[in-house]
Amino acid sequence: MGYAVLSTWKMSFNGALIAGEVLKNGGTPLEAIKAGINDVENNPDYLSVGYGGLPNREGEVELDAAIMDGSTGLFGGIMGVKGIANPIDVALDLSQKRLNCLLCGTGAEKYARLKGFEFKNMLTEKAKKQWEEQEIKNNDAESLVSYNGHDTVSFVARQGTFLAAGVSTSGIFLKVPGRVGDSPIVGGGLYSDSEAGAAAATGDGEDILRGCLSYEIVRQMESGKTAMEACETTLCNHLKKMNRKGLKIGPVSLIALDADGGFGAATSLNEFAFIYTDNSTPPAVWIAGAKTGVVKATGERLSQYTRD
Ligand code: GLY
Repeated sequence: MGYAVLSTWKMSFNGALIAGEVLKNGGTPLEAIKAGINDVENNPDYLSVGYGGLPNREGEVELDAAIMDGSTGLFGGIMGVKGIANPIDVALDLSQKRLNCLLCGTGAEKYARLKGFEFKNMLTEKAKKQWEEQEIKNNDAESLVSYNGHDTVSFVARQGTFLAAGVSTSGIFLKVPGRVGDSPIVGGGLYSDSEAGAAAATGDGEDILRGCLSYEIVRQMESGKTAMEACETTLCNHLKKMNRKGLKIGPVSLIALDADGGFGAATSLNEFAFIYTDNSTPPAVWIAGAKTGVVKATGERLSQYTRD
């Protein structure tokens, strides 16, 4: 089996290209995911990840990231960190450890400083301006509406039979300081087991965590479903269950690679763009839709798609 990269949102196109190059040159899926996510983290145009991410209610950018190695089951993650230029790099470093591999807040920042990771002011003028405008309109904290386009960049990658998953996000715009979503939580925002598959999520973290959706997708693949069937079944079952419980859930989108070479995606949105590339296919944008299924986006369809 060759290599493959699957990543969330159009904003990850260049990152998927870079990740594909890493794999083509014999790199591991962990190295490919780091390189792909770095490209998104470093781009100030993307308002939901890394540098340029939108801040919390108090105007501070708080970041979460995690990565999981499907060959060993080791994972690393950081949550609620400020000023770390590339959170996924720290998560990758932590994923070498069996214990003390998931760190939060000041403890995670201290670890990153000690290890020599780069720090910088992650709040750009563009993000600050959006925060100021929103803050002024919504001075009642309970009525704040989060940025509709917030979304995690999530990657799953394969090199032969080695699978991995990684994610990075600034979380929901105007979140309560200290709030953490699904992204750095193994089983929620990501999961990888090279014997079965790798999965990752993007969307409203609390809704994703309610179903441990990434773990559930991998569990479904382990029991014989393809990546596509596992994504669809997991999302459908979760939506039905939440509906039975009377809970309306927000945007949730899922991606997965199975151990047999297949890929899959599912979404609760009308449109969710993701990128796929492998050793015989250059990166391309695909669009999943709650009602339309999954299609490769070309020509007019692609030009009509307006989100990052
Ligand atoms: N999915 C990212 C978050 O909810 O924080």
